[in-house]
Amino acid sequence: MELCAQNITLHFPGLQVLEDVSIGAQAGEFVSLIGPSGCGKSTLLEVLAGLLKPQKGSVEFIGEGPKKPVAYMPQRDLLFPWRTLLENLLLGPEIMGEDLAAAQKEATGLLPLFGLEGFEESFPRELSGGMRQRAALLRTILCHKPILALDEPFGALDAITRREMQQWLLGVWEEFHHTIVFVTHDVEEALILSDRIYLLSPRPAHISLELELDLPRPRVATDPKLVALKAKLLSHLEANHE
Ligand SMILES: Nc1ncnc2c1ncn2[C@@H]1O[C@H](COP(=O)(O)OP(=O)(O)O)[C@@H](O)[C@H]1O
Ligand SMILES: [Mg+2]
Repeated sequence: MELCAQNITLHFPGLQVLEDVSIGAQAGEFVSLIGPSGCGKSTLLEVLAGLLKPQKGSVEFIGEGPKKPVAYMPQRDLLFPWRTLLENLLLGPEIMGEDLAAAQKEATGLLPLFGLEGFEESFPRELSGGMRQRAALLRTILCHKPILALDEPFGALDAITRREMQQWLLGVWEEFHHTIVFVTHDVEEALILSDRIYLLSPRPAHISLELELDLPRPRVATDPKLVALKAKLLSHLEANHE
């Protein structure tokens, strides 16, 4: 499903956060949003997911799909510490009143792809940071929505785990064909992953640059084209920094 957000303006009481933001993601496209911390990236994702209503602007979805087509993965991994991995995974189907036996079968079948096989009965504290993020992502995917909104899913991981997770996420994306809107403040991560990148300005955020990437995958950070784009994005971010 295609996503089209137009002229989004949002303020909290006394705080202008988003100013006339327009972004789009074509069906199956991997789109990243980059911007300085506090500029409004998480707020924008919540608007896309229908959790926040902007004062102005519209979010439209084009194509065959459910009325609420966005599965949202919040910035902090929100696995419940008192639930086992499997119980955490079944949260979505449970809330939506779906057939739990079928959901459990599906979740169990996907555990190997998510590197979680054998950990069904483990509690979140017994899992590594990377495993917790993969579990949170699997839970998001089990919501069966065509669009994923992922808020800095790898932000808390060390550099090596992060790199592994990026390649792994691309594999999952190729398998499921989601449309992905991915928030990061890491320019290199956006360049490794995305078909399209939007740069957000400091608050109130507006789109200061849109970049389409036509580079084959897998990409490596040392590719000269990628290095040049990284320099371009960083200088743009710095020029906009107050
Ligand atoms: N519910 C809220 N009420 C008031 N202010 C908020 C709320 N949520 C976020 N903010 C503020 O809006 C700004 C943007 O926040 P956020 O979207 O989380 O930024 P980012 O994800 O880019 O770091 C911040 O100044 C934050 O403190
Ligand atoms: Mg945020």
